[in-house]
This record gives sequence, C-alpha cells and structure tokens, in this order.
Amino acid sequence: MKQLTGKTKNNIAVFISGRGSNLKSLIKYSKLKKSKFRIKLVVSSKKGANGLLHAKKNKINYFVSNYKIKKNPEKKILLLLKKEKVKIICLAGFMKILSPNFINRFKGKILNIHPSLLPKYKGLNTHEKAINNRDKYSGFTIHIVNKKLDSGKIVFQKKIKIFNSDNAKLLENKIRKQENKYYPVVLDKLLN
Ligand code: GAR
Repeated sequence: MKQLTGKTKNNIAVFISGRGSNLKSLIKYSKLKKSKFRIKLVVSSKKGANGLLHAKKNKINYFVSNYKIKKNPEKKILLLLKKEKVKIICLAGFMKILSPNFINRFKGKILNIHPSLLPKYKGLNTHEKAINNRDKYSGFTIHIVNKKLDSGKIVFQKKIKIFNSDNAKLLENKIRKQENKYYPVVLDKLLN
C-alpha cells in the first residue's frame, strides 16, 4: 500500500460492530505525529456499539448502518467514503460481510483483523475452537479482504501461546490486547 500524497496523512475509515478496542488504539496512534493515517469516518453496523463512544469522544464522523432494516446499506457508506476521500478501510470487529461490489470498489484497500492464525478457524468462535482442539498456540491475523471470507492475502500474523489455565475468554482478552498493540503499527508500515 502506497502513501498517496507526499507527506499528508492517508484518510482511512474504520468499520466496527461492537466494543471498539481496536478502533480506540487506531485513534490513539493516528494522533501521533509520525502516524501516516488519519481516521475520517467510523462505520458501525450496530446502533449501540460501544466503539461509537470513541468516535464521539474524538469528534470523528460516524455513521450507523442498520443492516437489518436497510436493503442496500452499502450505498450510503460508499457515498460517505467518497465524501471523506477515504482511501483505506480497516475492519475492526466488523461482523457483516461486505458485498463483492463493495470489495471491488476498494480492491486491495480493505484490511481485516481476525482472531486466529488463518487459514485456521475462519468465521466465528475462534477462541473456543482453539481451546477445544487443545491447540498450543493461537493468535491473530491481519489480511487484505477479498471476496472469500477470511481468505485474503495475509500481511501480518502474531502467534500467542495457549496455557493450560486459559479458557476462551482469557484467550480472547490476551489476543485482543496484542491486536490493539499491533494493528495501528502494521497499518502504518503498510502505508510506508
Ligand atoms: C477482535 O478480536 C477482532 O479480531 C474480531 O473482533 C474483535 C473486535 O474487538 N474480529 C472478528 O472476529 C472478525 N472476523 P474490538 O471491537 O474490541 O476491536
């Protein structure tokens, strides 16, 4: 991913559905002088998503798209992305599947963070699966989004040891902490 205009920061959007801890860490990093991105838009698929508080607190434009009611929720999102001149989208706990048309419009410019060592455990309940299968390691993956679920080019992976004392919840928290630490840094490096 190339930085698009000289020294100016790249406009990004972050898509969320829940807690928003990755959004929070992306916001924090974006404020550093050295960061190569600025967050212009937050999109949430859920009205009550906790992560929206971070957008509000930091005066970032946000949009809630009610996927249940709207027939074509992406239409408005695409308009807003254009308005905000967004070049890169970071999915951060966004639990909806983007349409092939949408992915085409941002081909190679959508990143996702997924809580497993892909290609292992695509989809949901990754931590339960890792614990139930008595895996020695789990972790997270940052990848480019393509039209197949959790299958695009992997750009970064972090392995995390699973201890006997871990359960799914403990593992989830441990992995999320590491996600928060690495997501902004990996994005920033990609923009280099
Ligand atoms: C993160 O652990 C992320 O990897 C996962 O949702 C969590 C969101 O946390 N994403 C997926 O499962 C996508 N398939 P956050 O809302 O605190 O950033």
